[in-house]
Amino acid sequence: MLEIKGNETYIGVSIFVFVVTLLLISKLFKKPNKSNKSSSSSTKNITNSKDSNTEEIKEEREKKKATTDGNAEANSKPTIQQHKLFFKSLRAGDVVNSLKLSPDGKYLSLCGSERSVKMFIYETMIGSNKTPPQSFSLQLPFDNATCISWGSNGSQLVLYAVLNESKKLIAFNVLDQKNSQGKSYEQLWSVPLEQKSEIKSICSSDKSPYILTCGEDTVVKIWSLKGQLVQTINTSQIKAYMASMSPDGRFFSLATFSSEVKVFEALKKKDGQIDQCKRVMSLSGFKMSIHSVSFNSDGLKIVTSSKDQSIKLYSLNVKYSLDVDPELLYSVTSNFGVIDMISVSPDDQVIAAANQKYLCFMEFSNGSVIDSIELIGINKINSMVWSKDSQYLIAGGDDKQLYFFNNPKKLK
Ligand SMILES: *[C@@H]1O[C@H](CO)[C@@H](O)[C@H](O)[C@H]1NC(C)=O
Ligand SMILES: *[C@@H]1O[C@H](CO)[C@@H](O)[C@H](O)[C@H]1NC(C)=O
Ligand SMILES: *[C@@H]1O[C@H](CO)[C@@H](O)[C@H](O)[C@H]1NC(C)=O
Ligand SMILES: *[C@@H]1O[C@H](CO)[C@@H](O)[C@H](O)[C@H]1NC(C)=O
Ligand SMILES: *[C@@H]1O[C@H](CO)[C@@H](O)[C@H](O)[C@H]1NC(C)=O
Ligand SMILES: *[C@@H]1O[C@H](CO)[C@@H](O)[C@H](O)[C@H]1NC(C)=O
Repeated sequence: MLEIKGNETYIGVSIFVFVVTLLLISKLFKKPNKSNKSSSSSTKNITNSKDSNTEEIKEEREKKKATTDGNAEANSKPTIQQHKLFFKSLRAGDVVNSLKLSPDGKYLSLCGSERSVKMFIYETMIGSNKTPPQSFSLQLPFDNATCISWGSNGSQLVLYAVLNESKKLIAFNVLDQKNSQGKSYEQLWSVPLEQKSEIKSICSSDKSPYILTCGEDTVVKIWSLKGQLVQTINTSQIKAYMASMSPDGRFFSLATFSSEVKVFEALKKKDGQIDQCKRVMSLSGFKMSIHSVSFNSDGLKIVTSSKDQSIKLYSLNVKYSLDVDPELLYSVTSNFGVIDMISVSPDDQVIAAANQKYLCFMEFSNGSVIDSIELIGINKINSMVWSKDSQYLIAGGDDKQLYFFNNPKKLK
């Protein structure tokens, strides 16, 4: 009995040893397999590679397409790079707080937190991916700019910037060629804004004889092109989201906390200088505050986006001097939540509407949605601008990238 028991123990132990050996061997063979798996899944997630130069993104886009096509379980949401409207992304070199294109389409400028305005030569951004875009920085006097705007002093392109800490309005002459100090810009003037609240917007155009600044407290200041204060308008509203000017400078309006959009007209003197601005119309029919307004190319139509999720197009081409109200052409409800930013393409064909989750393109003529992009992997969009030829919408924000999207009506 004892012997048999001993035998049983012996057999038991040897089976145990055998099993352990088998397990160890199988583990050894599994190891390379496992690491293979994880590396393939890391190539699958290419959403937001920090080092995203355009070529890489395009390559990754192809790769990702291949893996999702060949992988039935891949049901993760498509990245923006996979969207057919995605054209490219480029390093902005700074947080993008405000993004503006010069009236001649030559410079794409942005400001952020690097005490400068970054100026990209637009042409070099859309060309070949092999050569990096050309840019230079316009140094600010020890301050960050909160917003920027382009205009002209009559003969030269001028960039206006609002300085954050020193609360100044500053004008720069942007030169076609470097000056004797090797700089591509010169400071023209700088004036104190004397505005207590944060400046939300600055508006100007190459055709307007004035510059407009608007504080969060909705106090609007009108400046001559030489930096003299012409008028202060207290609109008596609580909060301003942004101000917008028609391309010819004739009208401007404010998106405010109130549920009414006031439209102002800038009257000129005989010599073409700014005289004064008068409130001439108001757009009504909103249930909540207005977040964004944008004029079309001739300045006679205006698109609004409201917290009530409506997007409305109005015609200002009415006899407002006889108290005729602007005509509501259409009102549509956003399927993408509240729209924070709205912008009409320069060719008056498309409206770009964006919030932190979606970028949506709509028909200007009737407000129907053409296409939309879920903004996965983009960290907070702060500003967007159309290219002069309406081919691209360019957006930028906190992740220091510039994203170029094709206009869906121009995609071949
Ligand atoms: C990819 O990774 C990022 C961060 O590393 C994460 O936020 C994102 O959800 C991932 N996306 C997918 C599709 O797995
Ligand atoms: C500019 O912005 C950055 C980031 O917000 C901040 O660290 C820096 O102090 C700012 N500089 C000035 C002069 O305001
Ligand atoms: C502007 O100044 C305020 C404080 O006055 C600061 O909190 C904010 O970060 C500044 N913004 C930039 C872009 O520098
Ligand atoms: C515009 O600015 C340039 C450069 O400072 C100057 O030469 C030119 O005379 C200005 N034009 C007007 C109309 O003020
Ligand atoms: C604007 O007007 C309102 C009252 O209409 C007043 O309470 C407010 O202080 C004024 N704001 C400025 C900056 O003058
Ligand atoms: C809106 O306009 C576009 C382009 O003109 C047209 O194709 C589309 O059918 C219109 N949609 C509606 C709902 O009227």
